[in-house]
Amino acid sequence: MAPDWQALRQLRQGFLQEGELPARAYWEGPLRAGRGEEAARRLLASYDATLAQRIGWKWDAVLHELRARGWSPPPAVAVVDWGCGTAVAARRFLHHFGACCHITGLFLYDRSPLAVQFARAQLAREWPEVPVVVAPAERLPHQQALVLLSHVLGELDASQLRRLLAWLRLQQAVLWVEAGTHALSHRLVAVREQLRSHFHVVAPCPHQAACPLLQPPHARHWCHHFAPSPPEAFTTAFWATCRRQLGIDLRRLPVSYLVLDKRPHGAQAPPGARLLGAARCSQVEARATVCAPDGQLYTVRVLKSTHPQLYRRLKHPGFAEFLESTWPPGPTAGAAAAQTPPPVPGGETGRRRRSRGRKRPAEP
Ligand SMILES: C[S@@+](CC[C@H](N)C(=O)[O-])C[C@H]1O[C@@H](n2cnc3c(N)ncnc32)[C@H](O)[C@@H]1O
Repeated sequence: MAPDWQALRQLRQGFLQEGELPARAYWEGPLRAGRGEEAARRLLASYDATLAQRIGWKWDAVLHELRARGWSPPPAVAVVDWGCGTAVAARRFLHHFGACCHITGLFLYDRSPLAVQFARAQLAREWPEVPVVVAPAERLPHQQALVLLSHVLGELDASQLRRLLAWLRLQQAVLWVEAGTHALSHRLVAVREQLRSHFHVVAPCPHQAACPLLQPPHARHWCHHFAPSPPEAFTTAFWATCRRQLGIDLRRLPVSYLVLDKRPHGAQAPPGARLLGAARCSQVEARATVCAPDGQLYTVRVLKSTHPQLYRRLKHPGFAEFLESTWPPGPTAGAAAAQTPPPVPGGETGRRRRSRGRKRPAEP
């Protein structure tokens, strides 16, 4: 069935209204317009084949990072896909980790019964052996579940979010993926702040402290990363049409995310400072904002002439790019850092200080 491009454009328009909660129950929109259940199912199928796939690629990047860092789910666990839509988060989770844990129940929860029906049918087709449970909020596991949340934060008002966070505090692990916009990233930082005393922060942070983005001078920065698209996004007629019809950029998939786990040794600690967003690169230097293990934000400058390898890494970073050093770098910080002045804390002060005659680049 061909996607309903017109309906998808409208849906996406609603998602992009930053700061405004989308119209309630948009999956049921075709029903309200008198177009019948078939049109509503087509909308869900269209979303699932396009925008949800793009979200799935973001989940792939996050889950791949977790696996690479040695994280795995508890051996037996109930999984909840909260605000499941077509359950792309649950399906990507099963793809990456379904074989290495016993899922005692996969709970689908969404305010839209149509979405849940669609998600359940997809899962029955793709993962017939997984016990799927469709549950209202009060029948979700009370504690110790692994909770997936995907692209739902922008749809919750303050009281819904408060109730959700109270419930999340009782759970075992939280994997939360959102679009990498400034606003959603800062909302996710606020969520991290409200949950971090109950969990260990697994990703993306290289520390357990308060997020440095909460400090007013850093408010213009945001914690986002770029997930890669698979080759088919550029080689198939379907995705060419999708790009044209929806005006979406498939080259860079900005993502903000948060992974929390009650287990203290859920994943190996990352070895350094994490790149936020993309570095600003000229022919001469790369400038990057990084979040360091000491819980501070730094702006680093790397000269191509003196540190060509590091410059290249910043120009073409991986999804989870960590710059190794001890932080803050000083005389004992290792050869590369010792040769250069230390990074300057991010924000206006840092920029002013550099422009007042700093000759050599700082590098972690
Ligand atoms: C943008 S869609 C994302 C769906 C899916 N998680 C994904 O990543 O593709 C947001 C979903 O959250 C659901 N939702 C929004 N507010 C909700 C609430 N208060 N309780 C349950 N579900 C909610 C919507 O019905 C919708 O299916």
